Amino acid sequence: MGPLSAPPCTLHITWKELLLTASLLIFWNPPTSAQVTIEAQPTKVSEGKDVLLLVHNLPQNVTGYVWYKGQIMDLYHYITAYIIDTEMIIVGPAYSGRETVYSNASLLIQNVTQNDTGSYMIQITQRGDKTKGVTGHYSLYRE
Ligand SMILES: *[C@@H]1O[C@H](CO)[C@@H](O)[C@H](O)[C@H]1NC(C)=O
Ligand SMILES: *[C@@H]1O[C@H](CO)[C@@H](O)[C@H](O)[C@H]1NC(C)=O
Ligand SMILES: *[C@@H]1O[C@H](CO)[C@@H](O)[C@H](O)[C@H]1NC(C)=O
Ligand SMILES: *[C@@H]1O[C@H](CO)[C@@H](O)[C@H](O)[C@H]1NC(C)=O
Repeated sequence: MGPLSAPPCTLHITWKELLLTASLLIFWNPPTSAQVTIEAQPTKVSEGKDVLLLVHNLPQNVTGYVWYKGQIMDLYHYITAYIIDTEMIIVGPAYSGRETVYSNASLLIQNVTQNDTGSYMIQITQRGDKTKGVTGHYSLYRE
C-alpha cells in the first residue's frame, strides 16, 4: 500500500467534485488505502473542445484499465482499454474515434459533443484478479 497522501489539485475542487469524492469514499471502503478519483479537466467543457479525465491515486500492480460510457460495465458500454504489459490499446463498441487512453489511465476526449455528456466509469484490474471500479461524471455546457 502506498502512503496516504492528500488528493492533488485541491485548489480546483468545486462542490460537485467534493460530492463525487464523498460518494467514492463511501463506495470504496476500506478507508486505509488512498481512493481512486476521477477529475475532469476542465470541469466545464463546451462543444468542440477537449476534456481530459484524470485518474488519481491509482492502486499498485495495475495490469490494465477499461473505460466505460455510462454506469454499466458491459461490452456495449466499453469505450477503450489499455493493457500495461503490452502497451496495447483496444477499442470497444462505445468508442467514437475521439477517445484516447493514456498509460496513466487518463482518458482524453476530443471535439466533445452533447452526446458525450454523462457518466464515465473506469475499471482497474490489478495483479491477483483484484478489480476496482470507479465512476466520474462531467457535464457539458454550451457556450
Ligand atoms: C497522464 O497523462 C496525460 C497525458 O500524457 C497527462 O496530461 C496527465 O497530466 C497525466 N497525469 C495524470 C495524473 O493523469
Ligand atoms: C505488487 O507485486 C509485487 C510483486 O509481484 C508484490 O511483491 C507486492 O506485494 C504487490 N503489491 C501489492 C500492493 O499488491
Ligand atoms: C476535431 O475537430 C477538428 C476540426 O473539426 C478536426 O480537424 C479533428 O480531426 C477532430 N479530431 C478528432 C479526434 O476527431
Ligand atoms: C448523438 O446520439 C444520437 C443517438 O445515438 C445520434 O443520432 C446523433 O447523431 C448523435 N449526435 C452527435 C453529434 O454525435
